[in-house]
Amino acid sequence: MRPSKRTSPARNGVAVVGPGRLGQALGRLLAQAEVPVLFVAARRASKARQAVRVVGSGRPVTLGAPSASSLTQASVILLTTSDGAVASVARDIAGLAENWAGRVVLHTSGSLPSSALRPLKSRGASVGSMHPFQTVPSARVGVRSLKGCYWGVEGDAQARKVAGQFVRLLGGVEFPVRPERKTLYHAAAFLSCPTIVTLMERSRLLLQKSGVPARVARPMLAKFVAETARNFADLGARRALTGPAVRGDWKTIQRHLTALRQSSPQTVPVYRVFLREMLRLAGRQRPPRGLLA
Ligand SMILES: NC(=O)c1ccc[n+]([C@@H]2O[C@H](COP(=O)([O-])OP(=O)(O)OC[C@H]3O[C@@H](n4cnc5c(N)ncnc54)[C@H](OP(=O)(O)O)[C@@H]3O)[C@@H](O)[C@H]2O)c1
Repeated sequence: MRPSKRTSPARNGVAVVGPGRLGQALGRLLAQAEVPVLFVAARRASKARQAVRVVGSGRPVTLGAPSASSLTQASVILLTTSDGAVASVARDIAGLAENWAGRVVLHTSGSLPSSALRPLKSRGASVGSMHPFQTVPSARVGVRSLKGCYWGVEGDAQARKVAGQFVRLLGGVEFPVRPERKTLYHAAAFLSCPTIVTLMERSRLLLQKSGVPARVARPMLAKFVAETARNFADLGARRALTGPAVRGDWKTIQRHLTALRQSSPQTVPVYRVFLREMLRLAGRQRPPRGLLA
């Protein structure tokens, strides 16, 4: 779907403010979808120019410089700074115009509600948040990973409408998220992505210690986790669960713990925490005494 001139919320153009990994990738994807990206604003002029090159559209704007007032020409502002800067940048931008009525401002933070944009709302803007439940380790990866992903959306009606149109342009799926629960929602994302990477790295180090060739370890783990993720989606958690804890193979678990104590003692508490969770999930309540101590 292409935004028609009559129905597009971004008919007067979009400004990307705070173009890091996510902002650059999102800006590029929207520009590719023929959404007019008019401005890319950063606190340093060099960063704004670099981000414009990645986005492939727009004029570079330096926040705090007189040219920043041009941002008020955009009908949609995408605020993609790091979480800690959302409120202060919103306050600074709000000061660029007395009246923000008719404009939409969306931030992309997973943990903050749209009320972080209060200074803009109190001057008439429609505010919201659109958070991709996706990992963006670089702008380049984001251009791939943000296509077709899931977006948690909340905020004022007009802001949600615009967010929904952007999500559809990117082939994604929009779902509502409760503003007062966003931190909990974000903790859920934390448990499924950076935690998995951390566990995979721990696993890779154990493979290395056990003599598995380095060239095999990372792709092998990636395939393993991709299959696990697929089974989780297709079968649900309980049926996707395999391994000695599910089988009640306590002897193997005991041997794991002995090997870990010898070769990687710092892994023992991690192993035990997950073992406990796994037994609960598998419905096995009674491992032998001492195994979880
Ligand atoms: N990356 C992900 O996987 C991901 C996924 C979902 C949602 N998000 C959310 O998307 C937002 C951006 O994340 P990111 O990963 O793209 O972060 P990032 O790569 O670190 O980029 C953050 C950007 O914010 C700018 N910034 C920081 N403080 C600023 C300030 N005071 N004034 C103006 N600009 C400021 C930085 O500018 P400088 O270059 O000048 O430092 C940088 O360009 C966050 O809210 C994050 O929670 C990220």
